[in-house]
Amino acid sequence: MLRWMLLRAAGDERLARWAAASPTVRPVVDRYIAGDTLGAGLKAARGLADAGMAVTLDHVGEYITDASQADEAAQVYREVLSQVAAEDLPAGISVKPTQLGLLLERDRCEKLVADLAQRAADAAVHVTLDMEDHPVTEATVALVEQAHAAGATNVGCAIQAALHRTPDDVRRLTRLGASIRLCKGAYAEPVHVAWQRRVEVDRAYLEAARHLLREADYPRFATHDHRLVAAIKREAAHLGRPRDSYEFQMLFGVRADMQRALVADGYRLCVYVPFGTEWFPYFTRRLAERPANLAFFLRALTSGDQR
Ligand code: FDA
Repeated sequence: MLRWMLLRAAGDERLARWAAASPTVRPVVDRYIAGDTLGAGLKAARGLADAGMAVTLDHVGEYITDASQADEAAQVYREVLSQVAAEDLPAGISVKPTQLGLLLERDRCEKLVADLAQRAADAAVHVTLDMEDHPVTEATVALVEQAHAAGATNVGCAIQAALHRTPDDVRRLTRLGASIRLCKGAYAEPVHVAWQRRVEVDRAYLEAARHLLREADYPRFATHDHRLVAAIKREAAHLGRPRDSYEFQMLFGVRADMQRALVADGYRLCVYVPFGTEWFPYFTRRLAERPANLAFFLRALTSGDQR
């Protein structure tokens, strides 16, 4: 219930302004967000690269309300790509389709994805389209298909185990040769489209992971769930898959201990590094993933820490 309330708050402008000004909230934001600027994102990326990790850089922002914001977001990603190439960082980019105007001007969004994909390919960089809530799932998968049809094989997307449609999407994208980032799913989704219980989501995750390990060239497993990580390692070893033929992905600020341990054991690890000022929706999803965070948020809201 609390999780749902928090996820619903993700789009609340008033709460976003309060959180941005709250001295109680800021230290927790700093745990999850590398900083407000591209420079901060790159600094975090360099540190992680020195520790043997790859990164995928996310310029936070979503559900833009003015189509010109799509061009601004794309421009930041162009700068990311040129910096990544200039510094030869082991980095990809993660992009939310609604940040590129998917729901405002679909044509413009498609052109921006195509442009970023081409620039990323020139820099040997992988592009992952983040998966947002279910009204845009089909359009996001279609963007990947369009990119591949145009020769941009460096474009893949996240797929959420929680959704009932996921087994079909996994087969569809694997047949295409598109790289999938498998995650549990961070959104509050209705019962007719998504599994609601943890145990159901975990079971669906494992089934999709097994399929990817059997069929996909380079699957990306985004989870901090140690039971799933252990099961994926076991299954990969059972299938004789080399450790460099798949990767684990984790979020900046989450389970750094497990991140280091995986690298020390010779597994590939990619850290999702968000930066930028529009962090509130991303931040609320991170809070919602952890019950202790919920308590913190409610305490801050009900204390005198309101402006
Ligand atoms: P689970 O929630 O069971 O967490 C396992 C353990 O990890 C917890 O017990 C805790 O120790 C730790 N943990 C997890 N989340 C934490 C948090 N926020 N703070 C502190 N500790 C935490 N979702 C989506 O819908 N679309 C997307 O595109 C993406 N992209 C994406 C990329 C990457 C690299 C990751 C790792 C995740 C995503 N996600 C996502 C989010 C994903 O769907 C999911 O909500 C979170 O990863 C939490 O699920 P876990 O698999 O980690 O398991």
